[in-house]
Amino acid sequence: MSEPVLDVKNVTKTFRERGGRRFRALDDVSLTVREGECVGVVGESGCGKSTLARIITRLILPDSGSVRFCGTELTEAGGAALRRAYRDMKMIFQEPRSSFDPRLTLGVSIRAALKPVMRGRREQEAEVRRLLHVVGLEPRFAQAYPRQVSGGECQRAAIARAIAQKPRLLICDEATSALDVSVQAQVIELLTAIRRETGISYLFISHDLALVSSFCDRTYVLCGGRVVEQGPTAQIIREPREAYTKRLLSSVLTI
Ligand SMILES: Nc1ncnc2c1ncn2[C@@H]1O[C@H](COP(=O)(O)OP(=O)(O)OP(=O)(O)O)[C@@H](O)[C@H]1O
Ligand SMILES: [Mg+2]
Repeated sequence: MSEPVLDVKNVTKTFRERGGRRFRALDDVSLTVREGECVGVVGESGCGKSTLARIITRLILPDSGSVRFCGTELTEAGGAALRRAYRDMKMIFQEPRSSFDPRLTLGVSIRAALKPVMRGRREQEAEVRRLLHVVGLEPRFAQAYPRQVSGGECQRAAIARAIAQKPRLLICDEATSALDVSVQAQVIELLTAIRRETGISYLFISHDLALVSSFCDRTYVLCGGRVVEQGPTAQIIREPREAYTKRLLSSVLTI
């Protein structure tokens, strides 16, 4: 079988708390995402999900362990290899508005993402319109500022920008958690359509097991920085082995 798009092995991360005590946010975490696969990471607040995302995107380094992305060891990569990785891996955050520069229109922000991969202003502007269309936004949104659009529209624009460089992996960290339930469903539908059309892989991080189950092939359950359960999402939902997973499941079922 071909090498996974993302291969995280035995990653451990400790933070120094105020007062000098050490806190282990991630403990021996391993995870893979294969080509075209959609993998979920689920767990309650503080279990280490965003820390894992920050290590995968190399915003921070782990204490030990390895992160291989498309064949490159990211914990050791620099220069051109890191730039290539940043082109092929994009992140979508919970708060779309804070990931855009408020002084720039959405069109200008999306076009900025195109500049490394496309010359010619006309070509870029046409591509911005195409990307907006892909995410279900009319061309007029290119002229809008982040504050002038709804949270759902802004998240669509963030997705347009994220796919502009045709990445191989999209990491979504609570990407729909700030949205109304109906808008949440629309964004999931959009991510599903993009996946179908592009074959892109996803690492989908959420505290909501029901949401993860609607979207992910396989899921890792994270508890206190450790992977306590993993497998096909349907199986985890049907026969959760861990009490913790059962609790995650029942908390979503009672809402
Ligand atoms: N830079 C840091 N310094 C100290 N502790 C940190 C740091 N970053 C994260 N932590 C701690 O690590 C733990 C995991 O945080 P993380 O943000 O990864 O959780 P999370 O699963 O994403 O939670 P949420 O669902 O609320 O987003 C938390 O207890 C947090 O306080
Ligand atoms: Mg988080």
